[in-house]
Amino acid sequence: MDDAVVLGKKGYSLSKTLGEGSYGKVKSAYCDRLKRNVAIKIIDKRKTPQDFLERFLPREIEALKRLQHPSIIKTYEIFETSAGKVYIVMELGEKGDLLDYIKITGAMKEDIARIKFQQLASAIKHCHDSDFAHRDLKCENILLDVDLNIKLSDFGFSKSLSRDENGKTILSKTFCGSAAYAAPEVLQGIPCDPRASDIWSLGVILYTMVYALMPFDDSNVRNMISIQKQHRIPFPSSKNLTVECKDLIYRLLQPNVSQRMCIDEVLKHSWLHINASTGDLRVHFPRRQAHTACR
Ligand SMILES: Nc1ncnc2c1ncn2[C@@H]1O[C@H](COP(=O)(O)OP(=O)(O)O)[C@@H](O)[C@H]1O
Ligand SMILES: [Mg+2]
Repeated sequence: MDDAVVLGKKGYSLSKTLGEGSYGKVKSAYCDRLKRNVAIKIIDKRKTPQDFLERFLPREIEALKRLQHPSIIKTYEIFETSAGKVYIVMELGEKGDLLDYIKITGAMKEDIARIKFQQLASAIKHCHDSDFAHRDLKCENILLDVDLNIKLSDFGFSKSLSRDENGKTILSKTFCGSAAYAAPEVLQGIPCDPRASDIWSLGVILYTMVYALMPFDDSNVRNMISIQKQHRIPFPSSKNLTVECKDLIYRLLQPNVSQRMCIDEVLKHSWLHINASTGDLRVHFPRRQAHTACR
């Protein structure tokens, strides 16, 4: 049966395509019951590889059901037809994704980037506190609502953390995500705590927000890893960033996993506590924060 017919019977009027996912389309629709527009990810199980069906799709569905936060895209309903089509009905990111937004509007002023980054970091805190790692954080997976608030989406690579008998997180070896956003340990296939790799990706995202550029050239991944491991981050002088903003980027893009910040430290960083109108720190946090181990 045609998607429009299936969805029509459930009270959705199908509209335009919003994006092409790796294993299906995302379309917008109007929902009679909710009296609002929604986004529907449509996956045809007959056209997807086995490992996606057995590993990634169940994880995505579990994450969507478990994670509820104002800065995470809401899931309204998930259903499957006997013909093997899965429909994931979600809150609509009316203003599209962060990549398109940056392409149109260019680099953000720090005060705007701060609000967006704060929302994103609090969504990640919710994931990490719920024992999930996102593992595919990138601008294309960060959506914007009608008021340009951040809505984190695409949990297709997310993973709930497994622990050993002593409660320690079992390290992950799978490569996930895009090379340009991936931490050096992920690119090198070194087993790691996937939450730490999410923090690195946050650094790439923050850099992209304030410069409208990617921090590393991923056309040669070996070269890129070597630059990342030397902790060499280009801070173009064309844009005058505050010391606090550069300091946060520098710490997020810390190649040494044991020294990288955890999400609680990110949220306490002084840059996130600068008062937009006065430029003063609302709460004083020491510039040089201790690297408390929290993993
Ligand atoms: N809830 C949504 N609202 C608006 N656009 C969306 C929504 N979900 C996905 N999209 C669009 O569809 C694209 C692909 O969806 P995504 O869930 O990221 O699939 P994939 O796992 O294949 O990357 C996104 O990059 C985005 O542009
Ligand atoms: Mg995606």
